[in-house]
Amino acid sequence: MIFAANFKTNHTRATTKAYIEALKEKLVAKKSEDKVYIFPPATALDSYTGDFTLGVQNAYTTQNGAYTGEIGLEQLEEFTIKTILIGHSERREILGESQELVAAKFAYFKKQDFEIIYCIGEPLEIREKGDKAVIEYLLAQFEGIDTSYENLIIAYEPIWAIGTGRSATADEIASTHEALKRTIQKPLLYGGSVKPDNIKEITTIRGVDGVLVGSASLDVESFSQIVLA
Ligand code: 13P
Repeated sequence: MIFAANFKTNHTRATTKAYIEALKEKLVAKKSEDKVYIFPPATALDSYTGDFTLGVQNAYTTQNGAYTGEIGLEQLEEFTIKTILIGHSERREILGESQELVAAKFAYFKKQDFEIIYCIGEPLEIREKGDKAVIEYLLAQFEGIDTSYENLIIAYEPIWAIGTGRSATADEIASTHEALKRTIQKPLLYGGSVKPDNIKEITTIRGVDGVLVGSASLDVESFSQIVLA
């Protein structure tokens, strides 16, 4: 199983350091085949080592240059970061990233041999239209994406389940993952209100290869419970 923590715009450099120190102790009890990823805010990136992978939540398609507010490869190379989240719904919806920009980021970081966790997810009005509409919507989010890329992990995160406390049901997750896997054979994570209470149920669903956790990853105790459940 893959357990990924997306801190979003939470934690500081100092609290991330303390978090990682505490997490390392917990990870001694982790199953060796399980993989843990941490995505702290950009200001907290550093050269951490341990039984986990540090990734970046976002970056721009450049080595360096005049892109005010963005970070590029040069800033990631300083900490040997080779893992990135691309296509998160918050970047698509709040920051206005188009499919075109998302695909350009994918192509750029693929060329740099990054491991890419590529996020997709439907809004509530699409879910309410039924399974067929959901799959059509999700597959459209692969436009311009090389789904045969070997360092690709996919994260299915229904937008209506993110940060709401209401995870998708086991049936919704199972049918969506099954349909996605018919088209794309890559590790597939579920994200959206994953917490210690529902981790066991979610990780036993067929077609779930791991989880991408927001709110419940912010507290090291809670995230450790998820990893060690
Ligand atoms: P929550 O776990 O807070 O619902 O967030 C999920 C998410 O968006 C992870 O990328």
